[in-house]
Amino acid sequence: MRAMQIPSDHPLLLRIVDDLAERGWSQQNLFLPEALTRALAAECRQRAAEGELAPAAVGRGPFSEIREGIRGDHIQWIEAGQAQACDHYLGLMDSLREAMNRGLFLGLEDFESHFALYPPGAFYLKHVDRFRDDDRRMVSAVLYLNDDWLPEHGGQLRMYLDENLEQDVVPIGGCLVVFLSGDIPHEVLPATRDRLSLTGWFRRRGNELF
Ligand code: OGA
Ligand code: MN
Repeated sequence: MRAMQIPSDHPLLLRIVDDLAERGWSQQNLFLPEALTRALAAECRQRAAEGELAPAAVGRGPFSEIREGIRGDHIQWIEAGQAQACDHYLGLMDSLREAMNRGLFLGLEDFESHFALYPPGAFYLKHVDRFRDDDRRMVSAVLYLNDDWLPEHGGQLRMYLDENLEQDVVPIGGCLVVFLSGDIPHEVLPATRDRLSLTGWFRRRGNELF
């Protein structure tokens, strides 16, 4: 696979920026080429098979703890230089970061992301991604890595856009959902099969209180 680079004024990225400005979230069903989705899914499965994914914690710093009654996914944070497919993904997210800085003046400085695998039955109760004691997370981005996912498999991302407005996203491979981290409460519903994703947060320089 050749290096995956797209300019920060690519129409797909501009559409995400416009959606964020207008309504605070965006869904792009065909964000990734299939070959890259497959390569990322294989990387996630390999890491899981090697025991590298660990139960995710709730909260941050000294107050974080594992609470399967709140979230049941297994994760591993990714870094540049570990795998070509991950580097392609990080390159795309960097172009998106630039596009958002240009279009929304968010001052996003970095991006942190992890693989997540929800085993059958695992869920993540309704929450907001920005921590109470750390407001650096500005924009959340979830990229799904599942082939042949059907609505009856469950595992929807449910966003609470307004008091009476819920929006469900079926976690189909190649689909990217982006939303403002401080504004949109959301949850992950349980599924009948493994549910794979790469989840990440664009951060500004901010007030880390602890
Ligand atoms: C999260 C999260 C959503 C999803 O990891 O904070 O809300 O659809 N993930 O996986
Ligand atoms: Mn979340």
